[in-house]
Amino acid sequence: MKDFPKNPGRRKLLKAIGGATAAGAATSFIPGCGSEHKQKNLSFQEIPHSLDFNHHLPQGYSADILLSWGDPIVDNIEQFDPKKLTAQSQSQRFGYNNDFIAFMPLAEDTPAGRGDIHCQSGNSDRGLLCVNHEYTQPHLMFSGYNDEYSATRGVSAEHVAIEMAACGHSVVEIKRAGKGWQPVLDSPYNRRITSTTPMQISGPAAGDKRLQTTADPSGTQVLGTIGNCAGGKTPWGTVLVAEEGFGGAFQGDPDKIEDPREAHNHRDFGITPHNRNLGEYDRRFDIQHEPNEPNRFGWMVEYDPYDPQSTPRKLTNLGRFEHEGFTLVCKPNQPVVAYGGDDDEGQFVYRYVSKEAYLPQDPVHNRKLLTEGTLYTARFDQDGSGQWLPLVFGQGPLSSKNGFHNQADVLIDVRRAAALLGATPMDRPEDVETNPHNDCTYVMLTKNKSRAEDRVDAANPRARNAAGHILEVVPPGKSGVRDHASDKFRWRQFLLGGNPNAENPLERGAYGQQSSYNISSHGWFANPDNVAFDPQGNMWVATDGCESFGFHDGLWAMATEGPLRAAPKHFFGCPRGAEVCGPEFTPDGKTLFVSVQHPADALNSTYDQPLHRWPDNNPELPPRPSVLAIYRDDGGEVGS
Ligand code: FEO
Ligand code: CA
Ligand code: CA
Repeated sequence: MKDFPKNPGRRKLLKAIGGATAAGAATSFIPGCGSEHKQKNLSFQEIPHSLDFNHHLPQGYSADILLSWGDPIVDNIEQFDPKKLTAQSQSQRFGYNNDFIAFMPLAEDTPAGRGDIHCQSGNSDRGLLCVNHEYTQPHLMFSGYNDEYSATRGVSAEHVAIEMAACGHSVVEIKRAGKGWQPVLDSPYNRRITSTTPMQISGPAAGDKRLQTTADPSGTQVLGTIGNCAGGKTPWGTVLVAEEGFGGAFQGDPDKIEDPREAHNHRDFGITPHNRNLGEYDRRFDIQHEPNEPNRFGWMVEYDPYDPQSTPRKLTNLGRFEHEGFTLVCKPNQPVVAYGGDDDEGQFVYRYVSKEAYLPQDPVHNRKLLTEGTLYTARFDQDGSGQWLPLVFGQGPLSSKNGFHNQADVLIDVRRAAALLGATPMDRPEDVETNPHNDCTYVMLTKNKSRAEDRVDAANPRARNAAGHILEVVPPGKSGVRDHASDKFRWRQFLLGGNPNAENPLERGAYGQQSSYNISSHGWFANPDNVAFDPQGNMWVATDGCESFGFHDGLWAMATEGPLRAAPKHFFGCPRGAEVCGPEFTPDGKTLFVSVQHPADALNSTYDQPLHRWPDNNPELPPRPSVLAIYRDDGGEVGS
């Protein structure tokens, strides 16, 4: 077993709170969260770590390049030619930098307005692929930019308009074709949501004066969504879209903003005078011109993919921060519980509990559930217990004494409110998702290089955490009947990223070690970002950052129970420069969709001289972010 030579005390702490420990510990494995549950073995043949210009899959698997940036999502338009692209044309095509994916089944003979019936049909042969497009990279999209910097500050109005149309979200009907999948281009469901799509603002902050602008004095309507990273889906047939790095779209000097709360927030969300020059073309992105416009971003967005005319709405009840996503636990006749993370160093984990219960047969009632309820933030105590702290105006420090005058203030300034409540600053919380098989919740913590030696704690045990880790949150009760609405929980380390056998502490992930055993030399990974669970309850983790450890980002799959708990196997590898996002299974587990985001993103890689041209390898086309449909050649369940 590897040791922590510099800090034996910390290892004892880890063991005390139930963290599985490294190689050699196979005889004393942690039984798991719901150890009575049997998970099928992951029998695929693991792929090696590598770093090249292709994607990689295990033997016996194939991948269709299902949708790439610029592909038409409507019938009868010309094939993609990036040199002829216009904003109008981009608005009918798949967007850039695909991220979150929701597969929303389509059932036959379902009455209009019943997305819940479609959604719960479990149809795995036909559905709507709902995909986020997180951000654009003009130096890889357009000819003529020498580097990322010149493309950031000097983009033309025409290119900005194309970028605005390439961000946001796509809905594309897909159907099985042979062994694989294809888009249905004449589908009435196909739709683009962009940086200019009209949206409603709902929940307690709707109409608040801090959300009012020149164009919208009501503070209830906003154009577009930005920084759409991960998301979630509901059993009443809607999709949740997160707004993460929205600050980069805004330009201006927070020091010149009069209200200190707004100035603080603008700074905190990364708004500077040196950001993108979008404000030159659309004044609302210039904070000197429209100081409240950023307050209308940083929310979760809910929309109905089964109604292409529906207006998306921003859910202020889920707070304003750099949302990775929110995922739901919905049990009949109980409140809906949703979990989410704020993807920034030292930020917090959140939970939302609806006021009323989820009623499976009543979609109209269910649509209120995310607008009436309470948001909480997490405190992870050193002894493995934890507490959800309510973010409610008037309770504890959330009063006018601290600058909170109503619930809208609490939700707009939720980071400050959570800090005042004593929430635990975490190592960049990304996806937070519950495994339906053991009813435990897993928190992806991607990294935090700025955590100082004297700021480590049991939940974030490594200084300068370069490799990230995964926590397991255990609500009270037994598997299947755990009480996710309880304000108390237990937690423990599930896995520490990094190489368990490395001599170099950086490779080992600062001062930590991979916490699994039975792990191959390719089974370790770093920087967990997105997570999905297959129908057997196995965990599939997508990474963002492994290239700094010498190999591609990709997917690693592992059991959460039994002797192979937290022992990852490497399943998928990206081409260089890319991260993988949005793993999503069809309900039958026979197809796995993945987003390959920012391929060929590397120093000096541009449209004119890219590092590579994945996936087309066509000299006329740049590298293109793409969604892949992965399936087993024999038609079986992926992974098993
Ligand atoms: Fe867009 Fe949080 O990764
Ligand atoms: Ca992500
Ligand atoms: Ca990421």
